[in-house]
Amino acid sequence: MELASRTFKPRRRALSPARQALFERLAPQWCLDETGDSLEVAGAVLDIGFGDGAATVELALADRSRTVIGVDVHTPGVVNVLAGIERHGLTNVRVVHGDALVLLRRVPVESLAGVRVLFPDPWPKQRQRHRRIVQPAVVDEIVRRLEPGGWLELATDDVGYAEQMAQVCGSRTGLVGGRVPRPERTVTRFERQALDAGRTVTDLRYRRA
Ligand SMILES: C[S@@+](CC[C@H](N)C(=O)[O-])C[C@H]1O[C@@H](n2cnc3c(N)ncnc32)[C@H](O)[C@@H]1O
Repeated sequence: MELASRTFKPRRRALSPARQALFERLAPQWCLDETGDSLEVAGAVLDIGFGDGAATVELALADRSRTVIGVDVHTPGVVNVLAGIERHGLTNVRVVHGDALVLLRRVPVESLAGVRVLFPDPWPKQRQRHRRIVQPAVVDEIVRRLEPGGWLELATDDVGYAEQMAQVCGSRTGLVGGRVPRPERTVTRFERQALDAGRTVTDLRYRRA
């Protein structure tokens, strides 16, 4: 799969000694590599770009029988999810410290119950638009990996990006849905910032027919 340029700016950060130790202790058990053989992820939900990780932990807590795979390049968020796994005794979360577009290559077709992309980086300038994660080639790769009836959930506070999401997803064969009222979910860090700044949040939900 050839996908466009990176959807993020690399921003690995140094961890405090305590958090580094937590990462080293828990990562072998709960982290997956972004590259490698095909994964057995039938029925799992993929949470792309989880940021501080709080909503990923909440999603896993809401239904411990559902496997949640969170992927982000943001090191502190990865450690937060690992800490959440330990704090709540979760066994249904896997964490990938890496690029979702690379990880997708490990995900078999028609395997995922759902994919969630909440408040992806908006890349608002015209010359940055190719970095947006919600673009035709990426959405096609995501849809291929959804089981029949599987869902794709998106949210953004960027009006132009919301239009792009609706246009791109609305024109994919086999995907049905569109804008929806805000679903039940944790208010994420970026959503909180958007609401505090008075911006409107758009939620979209699609199903693979
Ligand atoms: C604007 S933040 C939103 C974070 C979180 N979803 C929220 O609502 O608070 C976007 C997140 O997506 C991550 N991200 C961007 N491109 C990514 C990619 N290709 N793979 C994994 N994570 C990515 C960034 O590191 C960042 O944490």
